[in-house]
Amino acid sequence: MPIIASINDFHRVARRRLPRFLFDYADGGALDELTLRRNVRDLAAVTLRQRVLQDVAKVDCSTSWFGRPVSLPVALGPIGIGGMFRRRGEVQAARATARHDVPFTLSTVGICSIEELRAGAPDARLWFQLYVIRDRGFMRELIARAKAKGAEVLVFTVDMPTPGIRQRDPRSGMSGPGGPARRFLQALGKPRWAWDVGIRGRPHQLGNLVPVLGADSGMEDYIGWMAANFDPGIRWNDLDWLRAEWDGPLVIKGILDPEDARAAAEFGAEGIVVSNHGGRQLDGVLSVARALPAIADAVGDRMTVLADGGVRSGLDVLRMLALGADGVLLGRAWLWALAAGGEAGVDRMLAMLAHELRVVMTLAGCSSIAAVDRTLLAHPSFLPYKDNV
Ligand SMILES: Cc1cc2nc3c(=O)[nH]c(=O)nc-3n(C[C@H](O)[C@H](O)[C@H](O)COP(=O)(O)O)c2cc1C
Repeated sequence: MPIIASINDFHRVARRRLPRFLFDYADGGALDELTLRRNVRDLAAVTLRQRVLQDVAKVDCSTSWFGRPVSLPVALGPIGIGGMFRRRGEVQAARATARHDVPFTLSTVGICSIEELRAGAPDARLWFQLYVIRDRGFMRELIARAKAKGAEVLVFTVDMPTPGIRQRDPRSGMSGPGGPARRFLQALGKPRWAWDVGIRGRPHQLGNLVPVLGADSGMEDYIGWMAANFDPGIRWNDLDWLRAEWDGPLVIKGILDPEDARAAAEFGAEGIVVSNHGGRQLDGVLSVARALPAIADAVGDRMTVLADGGVRSGLDVLRMLALGADGVLLGRAWLWALAAGGEAGVDRMLAMLAHELRVVMTLAGCSSIAAVDRTLLAHPSFLPYKDNV
């Protein structure tokens, strides 16, 4: 087993284990991947103060979201076809989250259905992510299924009226002509993955969509399915029916602008995820680290503000909190851990993240999550642009 001392180490192992089409699908972003890189670079540039003699004998990393405690200010975010990275991968990851008492978010386009997930991870705290699909009846059905399986939170993703342009996909064989043959050849070169996922991990279907797509719900051209079935015509005032269908906490994911954050608060959402979809949608937009402070200023006193994009360590979690988030979602971080080590990999990644967060909070003189705020920033360059130009 290779040495894993940081979350980034999982990335290296995942690259070795995965066929290229899957690795590049997850590793890449839209167009020139500027925003993808900015997410990581800008977060790394957030500079914290080192405070001493603050009595950090007891450091508590727990907090609460939507009236329920979480052991860390962290949840696993939704990842489409996450189940291809390890056999029945969403179930494995959800089982690991149950041990750490953090939520797991199942994507609309996961490999495992919400029913399979609940059966395989009965103790997991499930959140369900919904995309804007043209067929509203199908959306209603998905919400009812999520409710029936005890989903705590509905995460409604709004930053994908159409999929972004991801140039790595045709280059890698993930899409485009010759895709199936190229994927098959790549799988032959990764026998551990081919045995674990390619053979024993079947069926390779979008589990939640089987009732509508039936035999066509394979992952073949799933981005094409999204492009054809997502509804770009939706507006805030079309969402009243969503409120009526879902009476639990509703989180709008994919907010990058304070005006949209205010609209989400006025709509009555309990939370938002400040996100640019991990740099996979509109390239060239602000990194989450840059966008977050102004959004937290606009709505932080009215709703729970979560953020994702580039979080790769406990220090990154603390940075997001200092910029104004109440918590973070992990994206690629959990996917690499899953690809590298399955359930045990995600378990280890969460233990590592918890340990890192505790250590950096101790060194920054913070004994509780409530004590982390903007006063922890060492310089003003990450304050909202309006205060900073
Ligand atoms: C491979 C991949 C698939 C994703 N699929 C979804 C999805 O189905 N639904 C969704 O809301 N976000 C999806 N996202 C976005 C993530 O939830 C999250 O916003 C993003 O990965 C955060 O950036 P990070 O990976 O740099 O941490 C996906 C991201 C990746 C990398």
